[in-house]
Amino acid sequence: MKYKTLLLTLSLLACSTAADASGFGSLFSHKGVKQVDIPLYQESCGECHFAYQPGLLPERSWKKMMLPANLENHFGENAELPEEDRLEVLRFLLEYSAEKSFYKRSIKIARSLKADQTPLKISEVPYIKRKHLKIPAKMITGNKGVRLLSNCNTCHSKAAEGSYDDDTVFIPNFGYWDD
Ligand code: HEC
Ligand code: HEC
Repeated sequence: MKYKTLLLTLSLLACSTAADASGFGSLFSHKGVKQVDIPLYQESCGECHFAYQPGLLPERSWKKMMLPANLENHFGENAELPEEDRLEVLRFLLEYSAEKSFYKRSIKIARSLKADQTPLKISEVPYIKRKHLKIPAKMITGNKGVRLLSNCNTCHSKAAEGSYDDDTVFIPNFGYWDD
């Protein structure tokens, strides 16, 4: 077996063991969103809030968010970066964006958006919005331990690992989510 073929076989094997076993095409389908990080991303984008995985938004959203003028006014905050860092963070976000991913949540996020929709908020992606409709406001905006739906990691105990399953939700001041 040639070296390249061997590598391909090994990576396919690795994929299939970690894959979501349900349904057709399971070889390439993984749960959650891909857990990726580079120190620069954590430092640049994990200071004010949870370092959102690139697979939570499509490429066009990251491109728009990362324009210098938009970083300067990032939801009312200044998130400007030195040009070299901005380009490296952007490259990282685009490489792992939702539509490039084989992960279940990313695929659903990408599919829920129309081609002309470019949300800058993950919490405004139709799939993400729909998934949170049943949660009463007192558990989110009325909850000092959460405040905003965008604080994913306050409720999703495994958010940092890219897992958003409803059975790992623990809502501060309320407890485990029991659907
Ligand atoms: C100076 C603080 C700060 C820095 C640095 C920062 N952000 Fe933010 N970010 C915010 C604030 C404030 C919000 C708005 C929170 C809200 O209302 O949801 C936000 C919101 C977001 C949202 C939308 C969340 C949602 O679903 O509502 C994304 C995505 C995001 N930031 C990505 C990034 C990325 C990528 C970087 C690095 C380039 C970054 N942020 C750096 C402060 C910051
Ligand atoms: C107030 C706590 C809370 C916050 C904050 C929150 N979620 Fe959730 N999330 C939940 C609950 C509860 C459910 C399950 C809802 C249900 O069963 O109807 C859920 C469901 C989900 C699901 C579907 C899970 C499944 O098993 O079907 C995804 C994906 C998700 N959330 C992603 C996110 C992301 C991304 C963020 C941040 C932008 C976020 N959530 C913020 C509480 C939260």
